[in-house]
Amino acid sequence: MPAERRRRAVLIGASDIAHQGRMAVKRGIAPMVLVLGFAAVAAAAEWKAPASAKAMKNPVEKIAGLKAGKSLFDTDCAMCHGKTGKGDGPTGAALNPKPENLAGKEVQRQTDGELFWKISEGRGAMPPWNSLSEKDRWSLVRYIRSLAAKK
Ligand code: HEC
Repeated sequence: MPAERRRRAVLIGASDIAHQGRMAVKRGIAPMVLVLGFAAVAAAAEWKAPASAKAMKNPVEKIAGLKAGKSLFDTDCAMCHGKTGKGDGPTGAALNPKPENLAGKEVQRQTDGELFWKISEGRGAMPPWNSLSEKDRWSLVRYIRSLAAKK
């Protein structure tokens, strides 16, 4: 083969491979991105508060916190988390991932500080509640504790 034709053949071959590559990308990447997307959601499923949050102590007295916390919870949280914290509020039902069951073990085994931190920071559909005073957020933690008993 003369050099010029061989070069063209190589070029055509290369563009063919490139074309196939692009088709593979079109066919292959979309499902791959989906799979990676789900993996990311699954990996994000565990939501950990930092160690510094863990040790924070609840400065709000228990009984006072319970009372204030309940009324805050009913207005700000129940639509998603449900009246008893089970994650069955009318707005919560449509969410994916669903709001946690605040009465359940996964939430109750966390420290007050961790819950306070999560309420303050929010994640995804869970709004950050730093518009509420710290005292209100600590009161909410007191109230969430009381949900554990109401199974
Ligand atoms: C718009 C719906 C919505 C509202 C309103 C809402 N939450 Fe949430 N909440 C969520 C969702 C969804 C999650 C799960 C977030 C995640 O894991 O990514 C969550 C998670 C949490 C968690 C962490 C549970 C865990 O995984 O350890 C706490 C604590 C919490 N919410 C408390 C509250 C409190 C207190 C309020 C009211 C001040 C509130 N939430 C209002 C949707 C909501």
